[in-house]
Amino acid sequence: MTTQKTWRVAVLPGDGIGPEVIAQATRALDALATSDPELALEYDTFEWPSHAWHQAHGESAPADYLEQLAGYDAILLGALGDPGPIDDASRYLLSDSDSLAPLLEIRKGFDQWVCERPVRRLDGAPQYLADPRANDIDMLVIRENSEGEYVNQGGRLAQGTPNEVVTQTAVFTHRATDRIIRHAFEQARARVAVRQAEGRERDFGGKAAQVCLVTKRNAQKFWGDMYTEMFAAIARDYPDIATHHELVDAACMKFVSHPWAFDVVVASNLHGDILTDLAAVLNGGMGVSPSANLNPGDRTRPPMFEPTHGSAPDIAGQNKAGPAAMLLTAAMMLDWMGEADAAAARAGQRLKRAVADDLAVNADQSRATDAIGDAIIAALENA
Ligand code: IPM
Ligand code: MN
Repeated sequence: MTTQKTWRVAVLPGDGIGPEVIAQATRALDALATSDPELALEYDTFEWPSHAWHQAHGESAPADYLEQLAGYDAILLGALGDPGPIDDASRYLLSDSDSLAPLLEIRKGFDQWVCERPVRRLDGAPQYLADPRANDIDMLVIRENSEGEYVNQGGRLAQGTPNEVVTQTAVFTHRATDRIIRHAFEQARARVAVRQAEGRERDFGGKAAQVCLVTKRNAQKFWGDMYTEMFAAIARDYPDIATHHELVDAACMKFVSHPWAFDVVVASNLHGDILTDLAAVLNGGMGVSPSANLNPGDRTRPPMFEPTHGSAPDIAGQNKAGPAAMLLTAAMMLDWMGEADAAAARAGQRLKRAVADDLAVNADQSRATDAIGDAIIAALENA
């Protein structure tokens, strides 16, 4: 294990509440680096991609922005999307697909083919389900992040006329299916080791972990069948992991009726997108739901860490946004660095503990963004 690596991070605050929550993340990272001389982090902060940059330059980011980002070890992003306020008629308008395009360009540009969204409610976070078993939810949703319904292929013929014909093609390749399903099984195995270390083993018919495949194979048979066949073939390499399948509509229902029955869930790009909004609610809401876009096969290309939440224009600029999701996202970045750097691994654990400790004690208070940042930085002392 290498130590003393200096990690270079591109910080992209983005729009809306992004700059406010990113400020708390960099403060916490600074505090972690100050208290552990073996942790070396450097950041450069960029004004792009953003709405404001588009207003000034006619595009969300400079033409070579992906080349610029390629020089970093990791990307930490706040939020993208129209920063509002919603009732300001004079605001500069961009379509959702234009303002959010950089998110998808970065994911594709660096082949961040997996999006990981863990679901494990922290004490003190909002609890939307009344059933006490909701405290046991421990799920990892793995979203295919490189293709599927997000390939942006298609077009509009005879646009705006009664004869209009639209196609929006979904693409599923053997290669991307193989790597995402294998990754799900690998993560299931890794989670067994973590649960054993923490003394909270689970049982799925005699096996310690499960991977649930989600498709819509009853209506979309071509990709559904390929996923099903490849899932069964790959599962043979993981006899220690239980398997399960759900149709996406049933999965939505079961995420509400008994989410504690799930472990690792692997889903297509769009299904994973929808399921992880639902999963965020199980977690306590968007305010506490982190997310990572990774390329596990190639650590030379930067991953991107961004909370599941958006830019929350209704509360932007008011020091009201909860920074916990951003801080837990920064902890996921430290975990990723921690695979090659013991100091980063320690820092990731400390940051997660500090967020959890703060939530457990202070969640019922209404606090400003920076006050929560202060409390979490104070909690780092004991974490
Ligand atoms: C997410 C978001 C994005 C997505 C949008 C903003 C394009 O909803 O990260 O889940 O659909 O991937
Ligand atoms: Mn989403």
